Amino acid sequence: MTSNSHAADPASARPRRFAAQGPLKGRIRVPGDKSISHRSIMLGALAVGETKVTGLLEGEDVLATAAAMRAMGAHVERTGEGAWTINGVGVGALLQPKGPLDMGNSGTSTRLLMGLVSTHPINASFTGDDSLSKRPMNRVITPLSQMGASFDASEGGRLPLIVRGASPSVPITYTLPVASAQVKSAILLAGLNTPGKTTVIEPVPTRDHSERMLKGFGADLEVEVQADGTRVITITGEAELKPQTIEVPGDPSSAAFFLVAALITPGSDVVIENVGLNPTRAGLVEVLIAMGGQIDKLNAREVGGEPVADLHVRHSALKGIEVDPAIAPSMIDEFPALFVAASLAEGVTTTSGLDELRVKESDRLAAMATALSAAGAVIEEQADGLVITGTGGAPLPGTRAGFEVATHLDHRIAMAMAIAGLASREGVMIDDTRPIATSFPVFESMLEGLMT
Ligand code: S3P
Repeated sequence: MTSNSHAADPASARPRRFAAQGPLKGRIRVPGDKSISHRSIMLGALAVGETKVTGLLEGEDVLATAAAMRAMGAHVERTGEGAWTINGVGVGALLQPKGPLDMGNSGTSTRLLMGLVSTHPINASFTGDDSLSKRPMNRVITPLSQMGASFDASEGGRLPLIVRGASPSVPITYTLPVASAQVKSAILLAGLNTPGKTTVIEPVPTRDHSERMLKGFGADLEVEVQADGTRVITITGEAELKPQTIEVPGDPSSAAFFLVAALITPGSDVVIENVGLNPTRAGLVEVLIAMGGQIDKLNAREVGGEPVADLHVRHSALKGIEVDPAIAPSMIDEFPALFVAASLAEGVTTTSGLDELRVKESDRLAAMATALSAAGAVIEEQADGLVITGTGGAPLPGTRAGFEVATHLDHRIAMAMAIAGLASREGVMIDDTRPIATSFPVFESMLEGLMT
C-alpha cells in the first residue's frame, strides 16, 4: 500500500553537486510557513463559508493536505500564486473519502488528519512514501483511541493504517509524553467534533500555531500557563468555525538554510524578508546570534497573527557553543542547518536532548553525522545529539569523487548538505534533490538568484 510518490523511485533520482560560488548577496522572500499552511487548509475545510489564504506554501506536503480535504468534501482551489480559497463543510460534516489518503512524505498531514478523522463517522486509510511509512504513529493512536477511535495499523503502529472514527467521541485530558506539536494538534482537532472539554497538557511548550489559529477561526479554546511553564490547553466541542482571511508568514524553517548559508559563505550579505518569528519557532536565530552570527531583525511587525521580521544576515566568524536542550522544541526542524553552521565554527558545539530527531523524515542525527563526516567535518554522534568540532571558518574538504550524500527522502538533509557544499573546497554531491519539493520547491532557484 506504499504510495508511488516519485521521490520513492531511486531510478529517477536527481543528484546534484553544490559547490562554492562566491558570496551570496541580495534580498529573498522564502515561501509560506508549512505548519500554518497545513492548518489553514484543514481549518478552512471545517469552517462553513469561504476562507481565503495568501502566501500558502505550495510544497508537496501541503498539497497532500489539500488533496485529502478535497477527498473529504471541501472545495479547495488555487486562484493564483500562493492564493487559495477553501469552502468548508463544517465541523462534523467531513465525508467518507472514496480511496486511501496519500500523505506522501508528510507527517504533519498524517497526524493532524488522523485526529480529524478520529471523531467523524468515517473510516479512512492513510498511506505514505517509504520515509513516512517508517515513522511512529502510536503517539497519536494512543490518545485518539482513548477518544473512541479504532485503528488498524501496520507493524509498530506505522503506515499504511486505517482509522475508524468515533461519533460521538469522548473528551479526554491527555499529558503529552513527548514534546510534539503534531500530537497536541491531532488531539485538539479531534476535540473540535467531540462534545465537552478536551484538554492537552503540554509540559514542554511546542509550536502554538494550532492554538492561535483555532481561536482565530472562533473555536472555544483556552490556554493556561502554569508557574513551571506547563501549558494546559482546553478546547470545547462541538465547535463551529467561521471562515477567515489568512496571510501566511514566511517559514523560519526554510529561512534557516539561507541564514546559515550567508553566515558561512565569506562576503555574504542577504536580507530574508517576512520571516515568521513566533517564539515557539525562533530558537535557531537566537542560537546563531549566540554563536556570533550577525543577524539583525528589521521592520518587526505582525502578519496573520504571528510576529514577523526581515532578517539581515552577513558572513560571520562563528564560535562553537553548548546548545541548551531546553531550546530544542523551538528549533526542532532547524538542527540540520545548525549542524552545518557548527561545522564551520571555531571550537566545539555540543547538542543534546535531541532524541526526537531520530524519528523525523529520516534519523536526522545519523543522517547528518554521516553526511557531514563524508564532507570532512569532525562529528561525534551521541545517543541524543551531535558534538561537532568546527573548522574555524576554513572550508570543509567536501565529498570525495564518486561519493553521494544519502538524503533518505528527507528534504532538510538535502538542503542542509547543499549549503554545506557552498562552504567546501570540492563541493558536496547529494544523491537526490527531489525531496526538497516537499517543503521548499523554489530552494534551488532562490539560491542561484543570490549567487553573484
Ligand atoms: C510540526 C511539528 C513538528 C515539526 C514538523 C511540523 C507541526 O513535529 O517537526 O515539521 O506543523 O505541527 P513534531 O510534532 O513531531 O515535533
